[in-house]
Amino acid sequence: MAFRNKWHTKNRLISTLMVIIAMLITESCKKADKTSQYTIGFSQCIGSDLWRRTMLDEMRMELSLHPDARFIYADADGNSSKQVEQVKKMLDEGVDLLIISPNEAQPLTGIVEQTYNKGIPVIVIDRKTSSALYTAYVGADNYQIGKMAGEYAGTLLKGKGNIVEVMGLPGSSPAIERDRGFSDGLKKYTDIHITARVYGDWLKDSAEKQLIRIEPVIKNANALFAHNDVMALGSRKVLDKFKIRHGVKVLGVDALPGNGGGLQMVASKTIDASMIYPTGGKEAIMTAFRILNKESFARENLLQSVVIDSTNVQLMKLQWNKINSQQKDIERQQALLEEQINIYNSQQVILNIIVISLVLALVSGGLAFYSLMENRKINKRLEVKNNEILAQRNQLIEMSARAEVATEAKLKFFTNISHEFRTPLTLILSPVEDMMSNEKFNIVAGKSLKLIHKNVYRLLRLVNQLIDYRKIEYDKQQINVSPNNIIEFTRDIINSFQDNAQKRNISLSQVSDEQNITVWYDVNLLDKVFFNIIANALKFTNDNGRIQIIFKKNDNNTIDIAIQDNGIGMEPEETAHVFEQFYQAENGSSKGSGLGLALSKEIVTLHHGSIQVISKKWQGTTFIINMLLGDEHFDHPAQQSINKKQTDIEERAKIYVTDLEVPAIKKQEEETFGAPKEQSILIIEDNKDLLNYLSEKLGETYEIFTADNGASGLNETFERVPDLIISDVVLPGMSGKNITVNLKTDIRTSHIPIILLTAQGSVEQQIDGITCMADAYIIKPFNFDYLLATVKNLIKNRVILKEHFTSDVSNSNMPVSKNLDKKFLNDFAGIVEQNLANENFSVDEICKIIGVSRIQLYRKVKALLGCSISDYILNRRLKKAKYLLMNEGYPISEITYMVGFSTPNYFSTVFKAKYGCTPSEYKRKQHL
Ligand code: FRU
Repeated sequence: MAFRNKWHTKNRLISTLMVIIAMLITESCKKADKTSQYTIGFSQCIGSDLWRRTMLDEMRMELSLHPDARFIYADADGNSSKQVEQVKKMLDEGVDLLIISPNEAQPLTGIVEQTYNKGIPVIVIDRKTSSALYTAYVGADNYQIGKMAGEYAGTLLKGKGNIVEVMGLPGSSPAIERDRGFSDGLKKYTDIHITARVYGDWLKDSAEKQLIRIEPVIKNANALFAHNDVMALGSRKVLDKFKIRHGVKVLGVDALPGNGGGLQMVASKTIDASMIYPTGGKEAIMTAFRILNKESFARENLLQSVVIDSTNVQLMKLQWNKINSQQKDIERQQALLEEQINIYNSQQVILNIIVISLVLALVSGGLAFYSLMENRKINKRLEVKNNEILAQRNQLIEMSARAEVATEAKLKFFTNISHEFRTPLTLILSPVEDMMSNEKFNIVAGKSLKLIHKNVYRLLRLVNQLIDYRKIEYDKQQINVSPNNIIEFTRDIINSFQDNAQKRNISLSQVSDEQNITVWYDVNLLDKVFFNIIANALKFTNDNGRIQIIFKKNDNNTIDIAIQDNGIGMEPEETAHVFEQFYQAENGSSKGSGLGLALSKEIVTLHHGSIQVISKKWQGTTFIINMLLGDEHFDHPAQQSINKKQTDIEERAKIYVTDLEVPAIKKQEEETFGAPKEQSILIIEDNKDLLNYLSEKLGETYEIFTADNGASGLNETFERVPDLIISDVVLPGMSGKNITVNLKTDIRTSHIPIILLTAQGSVEQQIDGITCMADAYIIKPFNFDYLLATVKNLIKNRVILKEHFTSDVSNSNMPVSKNLDKKFLNDFAGIVEQNLANENFSVDEICKIIGVSRIQLYRKVKALLGCSISDYILNRRLKKAKYLLMNEGYPISEITYMVGFSTPNYFSTVFKAKYGCTPSEYKRKQHL
């Protein structure tokens, strides 16, 4: 238990560690690969020009500080409806914030409002929509830029001259606002006139095209103001084209640094001035994150502007270059930083792995140490256990050695004593045989002499087997093999049994293809094997059965000799032990010494052969002996075959055959001629000699019924209801103990005393027998007078039992069978009492109510009450009549019917016969 708990703790520790490690790995992966948090969409009206590219660069620069953000960019190519579609797509993709520079104010107003109304923040950059529904605006104030340009132009032209205005895309907010601002900026210069306004759509080529159209106006102009630098460049180009070189001023907007930018144009005097128009890319991203992170932000983010002309352009360029190089530095540093971060991240992962491995190593080390300690403990415990087992084993070895010595001593004793038995047995045998051949003795004691003769042989056989077995088992008997015809050899043996077989109509035959098969064996040993097995076959085969001895040569130079019978067969349990010495089945039918088959097996083994048994209950048994042909398996075989004389075999066969002779059992009908006997006894015994003996002896006093197995014993009991049963314990089919239990728990038979007569003599077996409710347990060999006395006693005791039942004293400590009898008597008396007035009341009615047959009821009542049923009923009627006459005032005629008599006359006759006076005389006497 403790061990299991420790393992649980260990497992829990390991799983906790695994979870921590998994968390660490996930965490480090998270650090290394941060997923985007926000998605920002940017819809650009047109992305191809420098100004817009600069705006995008600024945005990306700022976004690099937010690597967790996702940025979606779409360029509408100056097409408003395309821009609307692109915004819709972005919304479908799911943006968290929208930055938009609307191509034209009006067409984009709807989608921007929709976005805003959905709760998605919208930053409008550079250009505006026509609505105020946006979250923030980033960009310069275009009106102010226009105004700044107007005022600058006024100063530049010294308050006098003509100006042509090149405007952006009609409908785009910067174009509208710049135009308005420009007009306002010129207001105070009344001598300055805007002589033409053309739309250049923010593009150089468009501007050029429009200006060429108004050549006379251009030629008359003192200055051109374009809404952006690219259109200003176009304006200069047109002036050049028209060869106008007399100091016509060109102004633009944007003042972008870098190649092709407005700053360069001013520096190269291509244009005269430009208003800085910051892209606001950086500011838009900054504002976006403030909005997304729910920080405070300004709704209108107006970027500053300033005029760039020849006076400040160099300074601006310088500054821009400086900023540019700083920017490049920053970019480089940022790249380096990113590299460092990557290195840091990968190092972090490695560090985590190292830490995890270290922790794992420490934990495994700990666990290994723990396991080592546990193993040591277990090993110690195992060692202790091992030692215990070793000690027990040694003890067992010692005990078995002692047991072996004891067995050896016992066997030695038995062998010695067996030798001793031989002489007295032979001395009994010859006078008995003398007496048997004498007619005089035969008349007086023929049967007894036969019984003695048979049993002397039986004893001789047992004694011989014991001696032979011991010889083989312990002295390792040398065998003297010689080549002999086994067919002839066994034929002689079979012949010696033929007489017995024929008497019982059993067919005993030999089956062989060949008449001469030479086998090497010891003629003085192998015959015992066949004697034993054939005698067994005869013993367990019923009359009219069949026994065959079948010879079959095998390909592997061996021969099989099968002794096959169709007798009663054996249960598998019995078959498995059949060759074990002294084995006797509990309920089986093998009632031998338990040595014959063990001896046979030893003899076959001595011949390097084998023996096996196949058996099926109620179908038969086959013993198969397998022997090697030739003599190579023997060391020094004799060369000459030994011819056993027929007489010799017959002599040896006697001890097996005599035992098989079955005495004729007296038929029960024969008894009917003698005087009828009052009590009957059923004897259940499968030993026919003993059954005969007991029947004869007890038959002098009692009527005898017999049965030779458990099942027929039970049937006989129910049919005959004897006064006593004598039963053996070991019986074919059902044991005597089971018979006892069955009968004692059945109301029909519970009153019958049972004597168990058995060879099972141990104290435990005796206790067991009595526990099964047997009335007596007598051990074989028994003294007949003792048995007879017990029988008489038990029958007499029943009279006492009867008195007990007829009295009213109850005893609840009685065994089951006695209680059953008392119940029976109570039921019986009750039924009779209830029916006293019923003159037609019959025995059959009682049988029906109690559930027993007429004969069973008759026997039971006779056994328990000692009178017949009708006597009992009559007696009860008269007793009741007596009581009524004495105590009640009924007239005699009425009493007659109350106690079930048909006429007062008949009542009077019976009453007088019983009590010596008529009922009226009796009544009179009582009332005197
Ligand atoms: C670029 C541009 C700029 C101008 C702005 C107005 O596309 O034309 O030159 O200042 O857009 O929206």
